[in-house]
Amino acid sequence: MAKLNLINIYLFVFCISLFNFQTKCFDESSWLYKKQAALFIFGDSQFDAGNNNYINTTIGKANYWPYGETFFHYPTGRFCDGRLVPDFIAQYAKLPFIPPYLLPHNKLFINGVNLASAGAGALVETRKGSVIDLQTQLGYFKNISRVLREKLGDTEAEALLSKAVYLFSVGGNDYLFPFQTNSSVLYTYSVEQFVGQVIGNITQVIKEIYEVGGRKFGFPSLWPLGCAPVSRTGVPEGENKCFEPVTPYVDLHNIEISKVLQKLHSDLKGFKYSIPEFHTLMGDIINHPSKYGFKEGQVACCGSGPYRGIWSCGGRRGVTEYYLCDNVSEYVFFDSSHPTERAYEILAQLAWSGEPNVTGSYNLKALFES
Ligand SMILES: *[C@@H]1O[C@H](CO)[C@@H](O)[C@H](O)[C@H]1NC(C)=O
Ligand SMILES: *[C@@H]1O[C@H](CO)[C@@H](O)[C@H](O)[C@H]1NC(C)=O
Ligand SMILES: *[C@@H]1O[C@H](CO)[C@@H](O)[C@H](O)[C@H]1NC(C)=O
Ligand SMILES: *[C@@H]1O[C@H](CO)[C@@H](O)[C@H](O)[C@H]1NC(C)=O
Ligand SMILES: *[C@@H]1O[C@H](CO)[C@@H](O)[C@H](O)[C@H]1NC(C)=O
Ligand SMILES: *[C@@H]1O[C@H](CO)[C@@H](O)[C@H](O)[C@H]1NC(C)=O
Repeated sequence: MAKLNLINIYLFVFCISLFNFQTKCFDESSWLYKKQAALFIFGDSQFDAGNNNYINTTIGKANYWPYGETFFHYPTGRFCDGRLVPDFIAQYAKLPFIPPYLLPHNKLFINGVNLASAGAGALVETRKGSVIDLQTQLGYFKNISRVLREKLGDTEAEALLSKAVYLFSVGGNDYLFPFQTNSSVLYTYSVEQFVGQVIGNITQVIKEIYEVGGRKFGFPSLWPLGCAPVSRTGVPEGENKCFEPVTPYVDLHNIEISKVLQKLHSDLKGFKYSIPEFHTLMGDIINHPSKYGFKEGQVACCGSGPYRGIWSCGGRRGVTEYYLCDNVSEYVFFDSSHPTERAYEILAQLAWSGEPNVTGSYNLKALFES
């Protein structure tokens, strides 16, 4: 067994050295991806590992200090001091960190790829022109699936795609952006209609991934977005209140996405899903930080203004003066909108190995192993 693997490794090295990923080489080293399921990542800043570094955007880059200070020790483009949920999931699944699709020369998709873009939503209108919206992420994914078919042949590519896990963080920006810009959609559509559009677009994307060959989907619920420091800036400090107008959108979204996944499960052969319950857990972490070893659940580690909810962390966005905490481990939020690595790790653990009452029939570990 060990010997066989060694031969395969040599073969693989040989194939790479030819710089010519021929089908034959991959057939013979198919252990590479039969062993582990790949991870494809879609969505927003909670999952973006650096795609926005490579697009023309003024709003959504985290490629400067102190982003990355804790774990990577350089700013990777993650909106965090360290690892994000998909990074922990990749580690638990014994995969390498999944690189951003737009990273130059990232052409080997055997372990999956990260398509997420900070600021993106399910709707093309959400921060249009400054982000890679979900439709475009899907377009990239379809191209990736074509590349895989060319390199591996149809049979192997289909095996890889159906064994892979598709993990999403999407919707939050669709609901926050209209409030941040006082968009007319808040007045044009009812909560039901607007959530219906977001869910409709997400459903379309899931179906298209299914058609390309995807079977296993992970959709953590949206956490209470009105409780992020950025959302609380509009609420008088000391009142210990979240920004409530966004709450009906978040709550309805979580109900509807669950219904959609249940329906797809009964309609589509082989469709499996996990819904890690981030909403309840994150709400509990924010309200009872000490239960989880944090000291501060409301104020961000990095930023300025009330709750440090002004997005000035790093001093690159007009405001140059900002506060950076000494011990980031004490904080639930790193910047105005994003949790710290420690908070993400707690969420990732629930997603990976939570009981069915907090993940649905499958936790991510079970999805990877199924
Ligand atoms: C990037 O965007 C800015 C502002 O929208 C624009 O002025 C500039 O020409 C763009 N740069 C490129 C390379 O597209
Ligand atoms: C997908 O590939 C086609 C053909 O190579 C290209 O024209 C198209 O722009 C690509 N789409 C995306 C979203 O990258
Ligand atoms: C937001 O827009 C609405 C109508 O478009 C307007 O009535 C309202 O005053 C605006 N609110 C703020 C805070 O600007
Ligand atoms: C997708 O969103 C757009 C707005 O961006 C909306 O007009 C459309 O109806 C949505 N699609 C579905 C299937 O809900
Ligand atoms: C930082 O905070 C964590 C969590 O409260 C604590 O365990 C750790 O000892 C602190 N580190 C320092 C250097 O104070
Ligand atoms: C889920 O079930 C576990 C044990 O089976 C229990 O300890 C936990 O409190 C439950 N969580 C929720 C959110 O109901």
